[in-house]
Amino acid sequence: MQKIWAEVDRYFCDWVAPSVAGDELDAAVAANKKAGLPAIDVTRLQGKFLDFLVRVSGARSVLEIGTLGGYSTIWLARALPEGGRVVTLEFDPHHAKTATENLRKAGVLDRVEILVGRAIDSLPTLEHSAATPFDLIFIDADKESYTEYLEWALKLSRVGTVIVADNVVQEGKVVDAECPDPMVQGVRRFTERLAAQPRLSATVLQTVGMKGYDGFALAVVVQ
Ligand code: SAH
Ligand code: DHB
Ligand code: MG
Repeated sequence: MQKIWAEVDRYFCDWVAPSVAGDELDAAVAANKKAGLPAIDVTRLQGKFLDFLVRVSGARSVLEIGTLGGYSTIWLARALPEGGRVVTLEFDPHHAKTATENLRKAGVLDRVEILVGRAIDSLPTLEHSAATPFDLIFIDADKESYTEYLEWALKLSRVGTVIVADNVVQEGKVVDAECPDPMVQGVRRFTERLAAQPRLSATVLQTVGMKGYDGFALAVVVQ
């Protein structure tokens, strides 16, 4: 199935999110590879989905947990209206440095703030920030901490805030309660918390494509 998923991904990508000459998104992927970062960014079509979420929600203030080389950050930042801002959290200084360079080259560094450190330490500093409440929050760092990130996302939200979490399907392993993979157990705990949280209305969108089989959890703060 992987072959057809990748082909279809490419087909739609070429129509709705094509690379252009001198494309800074492609350049960021190349720079990440050169810098030795893992190739675990969102796909191009998924990046366009983040663009869609920013625009449809009218977000002006976005929080991202897990920057890597800033590929998804570029998508989020480019979709913002004039004056919009992204705060993005990254643990690894080498990733953050690579992201800074990619964001500069993409012309969006002026609207992005990268906070370097463990997300769990940076999140409390945002409670009294001018960026809070965030309009859209993208959770994409260590899966083991997704439940904590969800609690923080709620603290930094208002009614209407959109919360998105990547990688909740884990190639289908999410349904295996006995799976020893801590990432799978992380997304399972996250799913339980998401479902039990009365302030959220949530759903899950399974995805296939060049990055395999995975999915996004999508939630909106309702109270
Ligand atoms: N959003 C990126 C991909 C993020 S990959 C994109 O789609 O382009 C996950 C990132 O989270 C990695 O860069 C990793 O270093 C970072 N990370 C892992 N644990 C973290 C933690 N505890 N706090 C902050 N960042 C963390
Ligand atoms: C991994 C992390 C991600 O955010 C992702 O989209 C894919 C893989 C990982 O840690 O393996
Ligand atoms: Mg991810």
